[in-house]
Amino acid sequence: MLIYKVCVLWSMKQQTSTQTPPANGTQDIIGSAFATVSQRKLIRRRIYLDDENLSDGERVAVLQEVFHRGIRMRQIERLAKMMAPLGDGHPPPHVLIYGPTGTGKSVTCLHFLSAMQGVCAQKDISFQYFYVDLTTPHTCFGAFNELAIAMDGSVRRYRKGVALTEMQECIIAALNALNGVVCMLIDEPDTITRDQDTFLMFLAKTLPRKVQARLVYIFLTNQPEWERSLDPRILSVLKKQDMIFEPYDAMDLLEILKLRVEKALDPDKVNETALRKIAAMASRDTGDARKAVELLAKAAEAAEEGSGHLSEAEVDTAALRLESDKTRQLIDALAPQQHLALRACYYGLQKERRRLSTGLAYAWYHRLCSEECTKPLTQRRFSEMVSFLDLYGLVNACVTSKGRFGKTRDISQSLPSTVVADILGKLPPIERQDSLT
Ligand SMILES: Nc1ncnc2c1ncn2[C@@H]1O[C@H](COP(=O)(O)OP(=O)(O)O)[C@@H](O)[C@H]1O
Ligand SMILES: [Mg+2]
Repeated sequence: MLIYKVCVLWSMKQQTSTQTPPANGTQDIIGSAFATVSQRKLIRRRIYLDDENLSDGERVAVLQEVFHRGIRMRQIERLAKMMAPLGDGHPPPHVLIYGPTGTGKSVTCLHFLSAMQGVCAQKDISFQYFYVDLTTPHTCFGAFNELAIAMDGSVRRYRKGVALTEMQECIIAALNALNGVVCMLIDEPDTITRDQDTFLMFLAKTLPRKVQARLVYIFLTNQPEWERSLDPRILSVLKKQDMIFEPYDAMDLLEILKLRVEKALDPDKVNETALRKIAAMASRDTGDARKAVELLAKAAEAAEEGSGHLSEAEVDTAALRLESDKTRQLIDALAPQQHLALRACYYGLQKERRRLSTGLAYAWYHRLCSEECTKPLTQRRFSEMVSFLDLYGLVNACVTSKGRFGKTRDISQSLPSTVVADILGKLPPIERQDSLT
């Protein structure tokens, strides 16, 4: 009996020792997993790829590193000449800067003004600047709020319900505590939705008379025709000078991208052809540096998921991802009925396996509505929704003539299959025959 027990214990020990891998083997597995991750690691400092989502202070610090002065040298020199009277104690002129989005208006001015502040401090000239961010739409009250916050050190203290005059008093009081020249960088005042003239009149006429500091405004806008929409009195009071930021070309964007790669990524793992491709893609549309940097960041993420090397293939993947992200955002923002119409179109297209007429799409829409216990809209309203979806590129709907039967619209797929699968995935199960026709 004893011999039997010993035998059983010995065989159990043998079994456990074969099941547990040796300690060295596990360490090897962990070590190789670590090595794969570090081998694929491409992004070294992510902060340099996303300067726009940083706080103002951090953004200025990041821009010190990644802002490419060389390609905006002409504009910097012109700004420096305009501000030169400051050295003799004379006030510089107001400036209005035009340029399409992503041409570096905000970053160039921020960079210039922070350098200007440094030079003035050395020369004992009293100079300060404030950045007033109106890039998201604001009402007149909202714009005053942003101005008050910019003067106050970005603490949100001004809530709704505060009188406009009270806010104006706060701004005047804050400015009265300052001397010398105060420059205000007003970014995209054209987005103010209501009473734009009230805000601008306050800046141009009221403020200079109420404060002792000399005020200089730099307005930035993407709208070339903005000036024409203003009250002429504002323009005559301001006596501004104009400046244009032309779109970046592919070579400019390539320079910007190279600097980013140097600061944010591992340059040894990035192909120059990939950078050229990004620059070409971004310059093809509007020469938008924001888009180029966004594409670089996405391509770097795609590379980290794969081989760890950024080549043209990763750029293609990133471009596709960006496009489908935007489409998804657009779909998420649709009204419930528009969403139903879109799903009806794709459901119908999938089941009919051919082009879909508006009438047939409407039949599918009806069916979906009854599944969802929603009251369907009329066919005329449905057709309007299809036109809207076509306008936003969510379906293709081209008008075809059926002779004496009138006209209809042929609906076909315009979205990538992955997005379509996503839309169809959200469908409730429909009990149906194979086709409605
Ligand atoms: N000269 C440049 N050097 C480096 N990055 C730039 C440059 N110009 C633009 N960018 C990038 O493009 C983004 C958008 O620039 P921005 O100045 O906000 O454009 P705009 O104000 O003209 O719409 C910036 O956040 C920055 O990442
Ligand atoms: Mg801007």
